[in-house]
This record gives sequence, C-alpha cells and structure tokens, in this order.
Amino acid sequence: MPAASVASVDWDALQAQAVAVMRKAYAPYSKFPVGVAGLVDDGRVVVGCNVENAAYGVALCAECGMVSHLHASGGGRLVAVSCVGGDGQALMPCGRCRQLLWEHGGPDCLLMTPKGVLPMSEVLPQAFGLEDLEAAAARGQGTPA
Ligand code: THU
Repeated sequence: MPAASVASVDWDALQAQAVAVMRKAYAPYSKFPVGVAGLVDDGRVVVGCNVENAAYGVALCAECGMVSHLHASGGGRLVAVSCVGGDGQALMPCGRCRQLLWEHGGPDCLLMTPKGVLPMSEVLPQAFGLEDLEAAAARGQGTPA
C-alpha cells in the first residue's frame, strides 16, 4: 500500500483504535488523554498514547509512542493517521509531533483533522526534512545522517 487515497482508508476503524488506546493514556497531571493510530504501508496499524511524568517536561506525546511502535514492530511508512483527544474527536498534533509524522510518513501521509482529512504537506507546510540535510551536504555544508 503506497500513498493512501482518502477513500481507501477505513477512517472509522482507525479512529476507533485511536480512541481505544486513548483510554490507556497515563495523563494524571494534565488530565488530557490522547490516543493515536497510524495505518502503515503494509496494512498494519500502530498506536500510541501519551505518558506523563511528575517532571512535567518529560511527558511523552501519543505520537512518540506510535512512532516507537512503528519501528519496534517492523518499520515502514505511515500512510494515514488518526489522533484523538479525550472526547474521541480529531485532535491536531503539536508542532513537534507534526515533525515526527513528517519524518515517518512524508508529505502524502493523510491526517484526520477537525477540518477533514489533510495531507501532511498542508499540515506542516515547507517542512524541514532529510532533503534539507542532503541539500546542505551537497553544498558542502554538512553531512547527512
Ligand atoms: N499531547 C499529545 O500526546 N500529543 C499532541 O500532539 C498534543 C499533546 C499530550 C501531551 C500531554 O500529555 C497532554 O497532551 C497535554 O498537553
């Protein structure tokens, strides 16, 4: 499954998985549970929930857990993502997590937003990514990973 089309994704099922994992969030400090489910290009689904800490700044966003699950379960690329808050409705990922989704899904990865399904190219316009490192390296300004 390369780039997904909006219609090819079972958004209700993806959202249901995000809601289910949201209910497992550890968010005793903010009381703001978040769950996220991502469809991978091989058809499997990876999930994550936020995990907070008494040292508030150490909190892990739900997307961090999902990306760890992505790699721990075999890697691949995210093609569609549903992120929900405690009301079970679409929640926009924070800026940092948009960058995570960009790294692991790229511009064509689809995200369910409060305004409907949008590609990451619209959720994080003019994103910084590997290409920028490679372009800088080609100009002799650094070495890509
Ligand atoms: N949170 C996420 O898990 N993902 C986001 O994209 C936005 C924020 C979590 C972090 C914290 O545990 C809680 O929501 C309140 O900010």
